[in-house]
Amino acid sequence: MTGLATRPVVYSFTDHRVHRQEPPLIIAEGDGIRVRDVGGREYIDALSGLWHANLGFSEPDLIAAATAAYAELPAFACALGRTSAETVLLAEELLQAAGGKFRSVYFGASGSEAVESVLKFLWLAGNTGGAPARKLIVTRDSGFHGTTLGAATLAGIPRQHDGFDLPLPFTVRVPRVHFYRDHLDGESEDEYVARIVRTTRERILAAGPENVAAMVAEPVMAAGGVLVPPDGYWPAMARLLAELDVPLVSDEVVCGFGRLGHLFGYQRFGLEPAAVTVAKGITAGYAPLGAVLLGADLTAAIAAAADTHGVLGHGSTFGGHPVAAAVARANLRIIRERKIYERVAELETLLETSLEELLNLPVVGEVRCVGGLAAVELMADGVARRPFDPERGIGRRVAAEARARGLIVRDLGDVIALCPPLITGATEVMEIVSKLRAAIVAAVTEEAR
Ligand SMILES: Cc1ncc(COP(=O)(O)O)c(C=O)c1O
Repeated sequence: MTGLATRPVVYSFTDHRVHRQEPPLIIAEGDGIRVRDVGGREYIDALSGLWHANLGFSEPDLIAAATAAYAELPAFACALGRTSAETVLLAEELLQAAGGKFRSVYFGASGSEAVESVLKFLWLAGNTGGAPARKLIVTRDSGFHGTTLGAATLAGIPRQHDGFDLPLPFTVRVPRVHFYRDHLDGESEDEYVARIVRTTRERILAAGPENVAAMVAEPVMAAGGVLVPPDGYWPAMARLLAELDVPLVSDEVVCGFGRLGHLFGYQRFGLEPAAVTVAKGITAGYAPLGAVLLGADLTAAIAAAADTHGVLGHGSTFGGHPVAAAVARANLRIIRERKIYERVAELETLLETSLEELLNLPVVGEVRCVGGLAAVELMADGVARRPFDPERGIGRRVAAEARARGLIVRDLGDVIALCPPLITGATEVMEIVSKLRAAIVAAVTEEAR
């Protein structure tokens, strides 16, 4: 076996067959939306790290907030009835920024922990609130919600389960929303939406709504391919969930904190979730932090559970870390004072208009844009919607060609995902798109040889 696993770091979400041959990219420093590797090569990071460094890699106010917090109280936990002042202030500011829709905040250290926690809180609420049958979670194909056992169970992406003895048996799987790939020939957007909402309804009814604790969903699926829902989708889903009395948990780990031009992605679609999970952009990636914002019902249920179970048997050492909390507070201030939502609206238009030009490449089937999220769907024949044979690894080749040109993107199969820092300006968008165009042409030409 010697020579197989030769790297000291186990890289997540990495093809270790490729990785054995290719050296990892080791980043030494960052400036604005650019990062530089240890060899001095510069890249535009059009994925903001892993969908999280929303203000780029050198924001002085975040660095100052972290430095001051380290000087004041470098470590404390949010447990045993104790916490740091920064953590309490952050909870209050989050609840206020969310307009009073939520009543309390549970802090973890990552998105997976936030999702895992909300699942446990839903079950606790059912068990102590007279609805112990409410265990099932509605989740969509292509969804991604993290990697811990519960969060990974929700995933609608097979590689999150394969080899891991997952999923656990508590899901009701319903269709993803991907009009371009999944609509039937001749089917309109409205007809498509009606069909998948109907299927969702049938699956929930088959499972029994009385057995369902919640639906967990991203307002816009990110890791599943940046799937932007048609206009009618969320209103129809909201009606369905209300009719079947299924609460919505909005997974805002990618969509929150300005990514879709609002504090939370659900606001863009007019949804009323019972809870939201956040991480990544909450600190613009400058410190690890996750959280669940809990509505009145879940807040009351956790309080009431004490009468049945005593001590809340859930928590984590790093959840609500004082330095991360201080950074998150500074991030909220920056979002407000620098009018980040307005910048995102401009970024959306810039991405949309410049990416649309890629549609004249025959292998580009669709481009999708919402807020600061975008995707380019590569197809063997874009018009006929004929995909590439996945074995050809076209997406991977495009990402490699992009990297050779100083651009970091993410290949999700044959979808190229873009999630540039929210501070990306017009010239930088043009640079990203022109490098991407060159990368697509090079990958396809190289492959045809
Ligand atoms: C929607 C969503 N939820 C949860 C997670 C998990 O977050 P983390 O990687 O911080 O555990 C992710 C990560 O990409 C995500 O995209």
